[in-house]
Amino acid sequence: MKPRKKPSKSPAPVVPRRPGPRGWLGWGRGEDTLVEAPDQYRGTTVQVCGLWPWVIGSGTPMVGVPLGRHAVSGATVCCDPISWFQRANLISNPSVFILGKPGLGKSTVVRRMATGLAGYGVMPLVLGDLKPDYVDLVRALGGQVLSLGRGRGYLNILDPGEAKEAATRLTGAAKAAVLADAHGRQLTMVSALITILRSTPPTDREETILDRALRVLNEKHDGIPVLSDLLKVVRQAPEELRVVALDRGDFAKYQDITENLEASLIGLTTGGRLGETFARQTTEPMRRDCPVVVDVSGIDDTEVDLQAAVLLACWSAGFGAVNVAHALADAGLERRRHYFVIMDELWRALRAGRGMVDRVDALTRLNRQRGVGMAMVSHTMSDLLALSHEEDRMKAKGFVERSGMVICGGLPGAEMPLLTSAIPLSYAEQNLLKGWQDPPAWDPHTGKEAAPPGRGKFLAKVGGRPGIPFEVELTRAEIAVNDTNKLWHNKAS
Ligand SMILES: Nc1ncnc2c1ncn2[C@@H]1O[C@H](COP(=O)(O)OP(=O)(O)OP(=O)(O)O)[C@@H](O)[C@H]1O
Ligand SMILES: [Mg+2]
Repeated sequence: MKPRKKPSKSPAPVVPRRPGPRGWLGWGRGEDTLVEAPDQYRGTTVQVCGLWPWVIGSGTPMVGVPLGRHAVSGATVCCDPISWFQRANLISNPSVFILGKPGLGKSTVVRRMATGLAGYGVMPLVLGDLKPDYVDLVRALGGQVLSLGRGRGYLNILDPGEAKEAATRLTGAAKAAVLADAHGRQLTMVSALITILRSTPPTDREETILDRALRVLNEKHDGIPVLSDLLKVVRQAPEELRVVALDRGDFAKYQDITENLEASLIGLTTGGRLGETFARQTTEPMRRDCPVVVDVSGIDDTEVDLQAAVLLACWSAGFGAVNVAHALADAGLERRRHYFVIMDELWRALRAGRGMVDRVDALTRLNRQRGVGMAMVSHTMSDLLALSHEEDRMKAKGFVERSGMVICGGLPGAEMPLLTSAIPLSYAEQNLLKGWQDPPAWDPHTGKEAAPPGRGKFLAKVGGRPGIPFEVELTRAEIAVNDTNKLWHNKAS
């Protein structure tokens, strides 16, 4: 027998247990046809901690100097090489390389970093401001502004700076290390100046003679020696020098051996191509407890040799001061200070002569050990690769590759193959950079060009990670110290 079918009933209405995405369905039940996006607020975790679960992270690191807003999400982007290295452990060494076409705000973003870092207690050191881009800022920060150049100021390369005074406060190995460093700097600088003057380095015998002469000078000279005192020692031919000169007891032979050296030292003390910039006592010693800028903008761009020599001397004196600060901090005599060394217009410094690349190379390799953060700024990779020697070109490319992070502004398409060989960039990132170098539009109201579309826009890249595009907005306090087009405005008004 077949089972009997139950009589069919109309299905019971399905009562939803939960409201749909727009509220309870049905007439008079509150369904909304338009759901407005909620207002977004931005705040610190301290201010908005009670709003969970409607809190989202910004997706960008919030450690370091606030540089601007994320170009897509509008989130605050904080970034500087020292905080990202020291506090956030995001990069492997505290350095940043900034690339971008002229006038798009590279120096401005470095000034922002320097200002923020100064707030954290890091001292900005601008060792050779070729434009000058940083003088107003350092002045505003209450720092020291030094001027160098013909008739503007002098830098005695034999001046041990604060090393001598620091050595009196130190003992044992620390004292010996500070004095050895000061001596090493003297020798490197004299050799570097002779190299620039002659276009070839001094011979090894000449370097040994110089080394011995500097030792004699440091031991026997009262006060701070200058280059003419070094020349005097070489001429006086004390026994120590004659031994290393290998004159075998023959004074005439000694004079033959030291003739070229003497000629070069005379060249350095009596004006000539390098002027007297290095031959007199230092006009104002560099301090190590405040921001410092060395204004070398007075040196004409055509004086390539003098520019190179002055930059080298600035770097040597600057890193000498940093070394003294660390020695004193190691000994517990002073608090530990960190420095942010800025090398803007790096391409100008590098093309200033052979040896410059090596010097920067040595500095960039050591920045972690020296407790120094660095910012290097240049226009394009092609600038770095325009150096005459293959060896120098490879080293210059290494600056970008080794930097903890690279920040790129607008760049031409032709740059991309070179750039991607140093840092990986996706097609989208490359297109972004190319878009930022587009020319500014004409403003029909003023008849002048509007601001370039890429001004203040940058992409921060750390290794192979996706880049962070951000836009720098100047605050009112910054605008006064950020105008690098000042001379043009003055002319127009
Ligand atoms: N984010 C910004 N907002 C408004 N103005 C800016 C911004 N960034 C830079 N500027 C202005 O643009 C001009 C050029 O900036 P800056 O000197 O920083 O460019 P740069 O890339 O360093 O140029 P160069 O390669 O010639 O050294 C300055 O007058 C500066 O005040
Ligand atoms: Mg600049």
